[in-house]
Amino acid sequence: MTGKAFQWIFAAAIVAMLQACGGGSSSSSADARESPLSAQATLGKKIFEDVSLSASGRQSCASCHDAASAHAAPNDLAAQFGGALLDQQGERSSPSIRYLSTNSAFHFDAEGTPTGGFFWDGRATSLQDQAARPFVGAREMANTSVADVIDKLSRASYAAEFQRLFGTDIFNRPDDAFARLTLALQQFQREDPALRPFSSKFDEFLRGKAGLTEQETRGLALFNRADKGNCAACHPSSKASDGSHPLFTDFSYDNLGVPRNTELAQNADPAFFDLGLCAREGGDLAARTDLCGAFKVPSLRNVAVRRVYFHNGRFKSLKEALTFYVQRDTNPEKWYPLNADGTVDKFDDLPPAHRASVNTSEAPYNRGPGDTPALSDAEIDDVIAFLKTLSDGYAP
Ligand code: HEC
Ligand code: HEC
Repeated sequence: MTGKAFQWIFAAAIVAMLQACGGGSSSSSADARESPLSAQATLGKKIFEDVSLSASGRQSCASCHDAASAHAAPNDLAAQFGGALLDQQGERSSPSIRYLSTNSAFHFDAEGTPTGGFFWDGRATSLQDQAARPFVGAREMANTSVADVIDKLSRASYAAEFQRLFGTDIFNRPDDAFARLTLALQQFQREDPALRPFSSKFDEFLRGKAGLTEQETRGLALFNRADKGNCAACHPSSKASDGSHPLFTDFSYDNLGVPRNTELAQNADPAFFDLGLCAREGGDLAARTDLCGAFKVPSLRNVAVRRVYFHNGRFKSLKEALTFYVQRDTNPEKWYPLNADGTVDKFDDLPPAHRASVNTSEAPYNRGPGDTPALSDAEIDDVIAFLKTLSDGYAP
C-alpha cells in the first residue's frame, strides 16, 4: 500500500466513524454509535421532545421522561403536573421508560402470574398504544381531541418531514396521522440505544471489564439471597440463558402495601384508593379482587438516579424505600398512621377488604413485630451501594 493510499483510507475511516457517531441521536450514551435511527424513529425523537404538541405549549413526553434523569421525572414530585395551565396533578409517579423494548402486552403466564403490559397497571398493550394516551390526558398534554393534536403537528417544524414519510395528504386524515405519530414514538423508543444503553458499572462487571468494590459485592449477595433481601425474586439480576443482561424486573406484579401518600391531592378524599391492576381502565380484571393493590415491578436499572419511588411516589430516597421493605412488618408503626384506639393502620392505602392481598409470605416481608429485619442498617447501605452500580453511563 502506498503512503498516500493509506492516508486516504485512514481519513475515510475517520469520516465513517464521525458519521456513525453523529448519525444516531444527540444522546450522550456511549452506544449511540451502534446504529443510526430509522427515519421514523428520528421523527419520533422530535415528537418526543416537542412541547408544541401540548395544550400548555410547555410540555412534551421528555418533560416527564427526561433523558438526563434516566428518562424518568426530572424532580422529586410524587406526580407531575399537566393540563393547559400545568396545574393539574397526575395520579402516579413518572417511571423511567428505559429497558422496555422487550416488554410484552399484559398476559397471565403459564403459572397464572400477571405479566407484561405498559403503565403501572399494564393497561396499554404496546409502546404505541401507550403513546396515544398522554396527548389527550387531561392531567398531561391535555389536547381536546386527536384532531387537535394533528392540527398542532401540522404546524410543527418537522411537519414536512412527517408528510414526506406518510404522504402529503396525511394531515387531512387525523386518525391515520395520529396512528403514524404514535408509531414513530414507539419506533424511537425501540431503536434509540439511549433507551437501553446497558452502560452501567454492573454491565461492565458482567462483561468482565470492571470489578465491584467489596461493599458492592456484599450488596449484590444480599440482593440475591433468598433469606436476606430476596430482591432478585422480582428484580432478576442474572444474565439470561441467551447471554442478555438482566433488566432487574420480570415485568410481573405485586402488592407491597406501600403507605398512602398525602402529597397526592386525590388522597385527600378518604374514600379514594388507587387499586392498580383490579381497577384499571377497561375493567377487564375487576373480578380479580385478589389483584387489587398490585402494581408492576419496575426495573431497578438507574434506580439511584430516580428521586421518587413506587407508584404513588411515597418515598424519596433509596434508604427510606429499602428500610420500608425490611421494617414494614417488624416496625409497622414507623410507616403507617395510628388508629384512634392506638393500633397501627397497616396498609392504609388499601380499603380494609383488600389488605389481606398484600404480599406477606416472601422475604423480606415474612416477619412480624419484634422480629429482626431481614437487612440491618449497614446491610441496607451495602444493597444501596450495589444499586448505584446500575446507573447507565459508567465512566471508570
Ligand atoms: C405529565 C407527565 C407525563 C407526560 C407528559 C408523559 N408521561 Fe409517560 N408516564 C407518566 C406517568 C405518570 C406514567 C405512569 C402512569 C400510570 O402508570 O398510570 C407514565 C408511563 C409511561 C410509559 C410506561 C412505562 C412502563 O413502565 O410501562 C411510557 C412508555 C411512557 N410513559 C411514555 C411516554 C410518552 C411517549 C409520552 C409522550 C407522548 C409521555 N410518556 C408523556 C408521565 C408522563
Ligand atoms: C415480591 C416481589 C418483590 C420483591 C421481593 C422486591 N421487590 Fe422491589 N418492587 C416490587 C414491586 C411490585 C414494586 C412496585 C410497587 C409499587 O409501586 O406499588 C417494587 C418497587 C421497588 C422500588 C421502587 C422503584 C421505582 O422506580 O419506583 C425499589 C427501589 C425496589 N423495589 C427495590 C427492591 C429491593 C432492594 C428489594 C430487596 C430488598 C426488592 N425491591 C424486593 C416487587 C418486589
